[in-house]
Amino acid sequence: MPLVTTTEMFKKAYDNGYAIGAFNVNNMEIIQGITEAAKANNAPLILQVSAGARRYAKHAYLMKLVEAALEDTDLPIALHLDHGDSFELCKSCIDGGFTSVMIDGSHLSLEENIKLTKQVVDYAHDHGVVVEGELGRLAGVEDEINVSEEDSSYTDPDDVQEFVEKTGVDSLAIAIGTSHGAFKFTGEPRLRFDILEEVERRLPGFPIVLHGASSVPQEYVEIINKYGGEMPGAQGVPEEMLRKAASMSVCKINIDSDIRLAMTASIRKFMAENPGAFDPRQYLAPARDAIRTIVGHKIVNVLGCNDKI
Ligand code: G3H
Ligand code: 13P
Ligand code: ZN
Repeated sequence: MPLVTTTEMFKKAYDNGYAIGAFNVNNMEIIQGITEAAKANNAPLILQVSAGARRYAKHAYLMKLVEAALEDTDLPIALHLDHGDSFELCKSCIDGGFTSVMIDGSHLSLEENIKLTKQVVDYAHDHGVVVEGELGRLAGVEDEINVSEEDSSYTDPDDVQEFVEKTGVDSLAIAIGTSHGAFKFTGEPRLRFDILEEVERRLPGFPIVLHGASSVPQEYVEIINKYGGEMPGAQGVPEEMLRKAASMSVCKINIDSDIRLAMTASIRKFMAENPGAFDPRQYLAPARDAIRTIVGHKIVNVLGCNDKI
């Protein structure tokens, strides 16, 4: 099956109260772990690539790996640019075969964000590609950009209709209290479901995206800390909150940090228990298995997108 866009996936997810997982990919083992889990659970899938991942692995390698995953699984898979920061980057991904791009103008004024997003939408739609925009600003680290808590801001529901109408975007990422990375809350986790409800009221039937949605399983943090890591205080979004969001208008849930944690915990443990190991396949195979396990858990117990093909 060729790559698909997210249009059909989101429509079914919205109508049936579940969400599609959008998992960040950087190399072969990550792509295999994620796609094997989706295949085992008969789940539609979004594989997403950040600008940093594209620099790390190179566009051509990622395209070929995703092509291999399509051939291997025959799943409906969308290939998405995560946090595109310029028209040129979005255009390059569209020209290079991606079926979905995000243009993240969330740091701009509303007017400038609309202008940039519309420019990307016009080009993308001419090429059969869908676009995710963003309003409101998440805290946390992504690539070289580190947004402090003071600089983050919730999405203003008063802006969403104008943004969607003027840009023509196909989905909208909003900020309701999640953040990127493994340190999301210092106290009680709290998400602004009132904002999500108000956005849903203003944009009925429109797919919403939740970034920063890793739940940071403590079992991984404990393993990492036990074997020399330093992640005290790591805390993610409770899974019941993600399930609630998925049952509402959230159709795409972005997960990267949990995959990093699964992989790192597995490799740290393996190396500590097998100090003589030096064949990368010895530690990358269990790391890939750990990714398959966490992604399978997300699909079935958090997103609810299993058996939706
Ligand atoms: O939201 C950002 C993703 O976690 C990607 O992270 O830019 O370090 O690849 P990255
Ligand atoms: P996490 O850091 O919570 O996994 O969020 C990933 C993300 O939003 C990618 O765009
Ligand atoms: Zn993000």
